[in-house]
Amino acid sequence: MGNSQKLVINGGRRLEGELQVHGAKNSALPLLAAAVLAHGECVFHNCPMLTDVDAACRILSCLGCRCSRSGDTVCVDSANVCGNEIPDALMREMRSSIVFLGAVLGRTSRCRLTFPGGCELGARPIDLHIAALREMGAVIREEHGWLECTAPGGLRGARISLSFPSVGATENIMLAAASAEGTTEIQNAAREPEIIDLADFLNKCGAKISGAGGSTIVVEGVKRLEPAEHSVIPDRIVTGTYLCCAAITKGELILTRCEPSHIMGYLPVLEAMGCRIYPYGGGKLYINCTRRLTAPPTIRTMPYPGFPTDIQALFTALCSTAEGTSVFVETIFDNRYRHVPELIRLGASIKVEGRVAVVQGVERLSGAKLCAGELRGGAALVTAALAAEGTSEISGVGYIDRGYESIEIALRSVGADISRTGQP
Ligand code: UD1
Repeated sequence: MGNSQKLVINGGRRLEGELQVHGAKNSALPLLAAAVLAHGECVFHNCPMLTDVDAACRILSCLGCRCSRSGDTVCVDSANVCGNEIPDALMREMRSSIVFLGAVLGRTSRCRLTFPGGCELGARPIDLHIAALREMGAVIREEHGWLECTAPGGLRGARISLSFPSVGATENIMLAAASAEGTTEIQNAAREPEIIDLADFLNKCGAKISGAGGSTIVVEGVKRLEPAEHSVIPDRIVTGTYLCCAAITKGELILTRCEPSHIMGYLPVLEAMGCRIYPYGGGKLYINCTRRLTAPPTIRTMPYPGFPTDIQALFTALCSTAEGTSVFVETIFDNRYRHVPELIRLGASIKVEGRVAVVQGVERLSGAKLCAGELRGGAALVTAALAAEGTSEISGVGYIDRGYESIEIALRSVGADISRTGQP
């Protein structure tokens, strides 16, 4: 990610205080795409200030929407959608740009776009998206690197059985089906909270979606969607990141504006490792860690409600200083250990074999120069550096900015010695 900025961290400081969790990137992006379907001005509150969200707004502008931001509120006026082409540069900027396909096709019956970028986690095909949209009547051709998609007679409902509960494919189908002719049934749908958030928003717009959060989602197509106002759910991965930062520094934090029910895939692991965590009313979560953590024996990433792949890197960082050995099995992506060689520079003892990583906890880490290669892996380096003795310097900050709002300001406010250097 092209900027020369670095995060400079002097590790060894215990985090203490209160930290607010921002809105979920992975909810905000499909919600912004959904705004294309509403004929007018949608208002999104708790919309995180992230470079990926900025990229989604640039896509919306290309399509003829008017976007504006005031604080954490983003307004998208899709009354005059006139475009249906997403420029290659924006498609390459982030993989989730593919979620615009279902929305644009639903609104204009045509969409022209290139293959999405953001493949730093290994191969990330879009075959499930394409096959599902074809079942709904879309004609999709691939020419000169472009996907030419049309729905000559409009999209129509279909019964779609996903071979894997893909988050992006489930979202694309919901978006395409919301205003399609007839009823769509998605079997083996993804069950992530972001799917429920999207369904909630679309239903506010007049869609008829039931079953979101379960394995079968039914979407009864309606003629037209109207604009609505919505608040983005809290980011469960940022919540987990801050919890890991507290845990690795033997800290004590209160997280606010989070949703404890969304983090049950990893919260019990933190507790088993020796953290004391209490959710209490009003979206607050208290964590306190006073001793060296105990390594969890095995962690397998799974679709929601299992242990999230997006949290795996954070936990490899955490386990690198725990007492004992942990085995990680990454079942979702085939290249999600790129942060490991960087953790090893800090003194971690980790061996990777295919989709398995064995982390042998060491007593101490020591600061080093590190390079982030992707978003969550980058956050894992920050987490480990907070516990490492001496100074660490992390480059590749652009990756971290895709999913964390000014991470250095947030962590500094609870006692970390972290600063950002260099030009954006
Ligand atoms: C979303 C999240 C990402 C998270 C991932 C899994 C967003 C913006 N991103 O990504 O942070 O890590 O869910 O929880 O919400 N697959 C195919 N063919 C397809 C689609 C997916 O083979 O057409 C495979 C992928 O290569 C991957 C697996 O399915 O191995 C999971 O992908 P998917 O659930 O689609 O993840 P994303 O929606 O890309």
